[in-house]
Amino acid sequence: MSDRATSRLRGIYQAHVTANDRICPEHYRLRLVLSQFPPSAPGQFVNIRCARAGAPAPAELPWPRAGLPRPGQPELLRREPLLRRPFSLAGRRDRADGAIELEIVHRVVGPGTDFLAALETGAVVEVLGPLGRGFSVLPARPRAALVGGGVGIAPLLYLAGALRDADKRIVAFAGARSARLLPLRLNTEEPPARQPRPNMCAQEFAARGAAAVIATDDGSAGVAGLVHEAFQQWLQRTEQPAEALAVYACGPEAMLRALADICTTAGIPCQLALERHMACGMGTCQGCAVKVKADTPAGWAFRLACKDGPVFDADELVWES
Ligand SMILES: Cc1cc2nc3c(=O)[nH]c(=O)nc-3n(C[C@H](O)[C@H](O)[C@H](O)COP(=O)(O)OP(=O)(O)OC[C@H]3O[C@@H](n4cnc5c(N)ncnc54)[C@H](O)[C@@H]3O)c2cc1C
Ligand code: FES
Repeated sequence: MSDRATSRLRGIYQAHVTANDRICPEHYRLRLVLSQFPPSAPGQFVNIRCARAGAPAPAELPWPRAGLPRPGQPELLRREPLLRRPFSLAGRRDRADGAIELEIVHRVVGPGTDFLAALETGAVVEVLGPLGRGFSVLPARPRAALVGGGVGIAPLLYLAGALRDADKRIVAFAGARSARLLPLRLNTEEPPARQPRPNMCAQEFAARGAAAVIATDDGSAGVAGLVHEAFQQWLQRTEQPAEALAVYACGPEAMLRALADICTTAGIPCQLALERHMACGMGTCQGCAVKVKADTPAGWAFRLACKDGPVFDADELVWES
């Protein structure tokens, strides 16, 4: 396993909401300010308690001498979820006054993200982090391709800033089902190209010095088709040598798997952020097992997406058939 960015420091912090903007019908950009937060790296994530600040913390259920526990505590009956929910860091800014601004891009899919969508400026939420191992910027690779599907674009925004600071030339590939569900703001003066020709069409990537290719399943913006296909078309056309390139990706696992195949065939190092279902987020519950190649009789072993990942090298993963 490569030496990926990680931090042993983590804690629970109160975060004040400074903005929660709806980017499209499904996605919001949440800005949080914290008086302190340990160093973090792109690809790491936080667990957010999706419950009102001051709401009673989950309590243990009494186990009766006979029969089963009877859930009745208010926190179990509320629609607010019991478990914290994991979200990738989409950005971080360390302010001159010592405060830290964190950015989260979230997609509304259930009670936790419903709760986040309703947060107003001034609200306080509890953040546990930073968690997991992030992307590692490869010094010998001067070019970077970022490939994100849907809300998987979020950690790549933070990564684009780190790659820019490391003087890498970046091109981002961002995919969504449709233009209206893309968690990015498009430039009206420079619309996405219909062919995989990177331009400054995505405001968030352009602000980090990265050109972008947009792909939509329905062809409503940019290249029609899946985002890894757009990347593959670009790779076939680009004059840049494969030896200069590193690929970093996050999104649905089918997309990551297809991308891993493309990169393996082309001999390009590829790091994938897996967004598995998680409970504790810290390696305790063992609920987020990932199969990786290992020197065992079976040829593989389990690792934990929350602790050993969520970022893995594509060539260390064993995909389930
Ligand atoms: C490391 C990591 C980083 C993540 N980063 C982001 C992010 O930046 N932005 C974002 O919007 N979401 C992100 N997610 C997913 C996010 O955690 C879930 O969408 C969220 O927990 C859903 O909570 P909920 O209560 O709203 O919905 P739930 O009721 O918990 O789930 C609603 C639906 O979403 C599905 N779902 C829940 N979690 C996942 C998951 N991990 N992968 C696939 N499907 C899931 C459930 O199966 C269900 O169908 C990340 C997940 C992980 C593990
Ligand atoms: S989420 Fe509990 S061990 Fe990974």
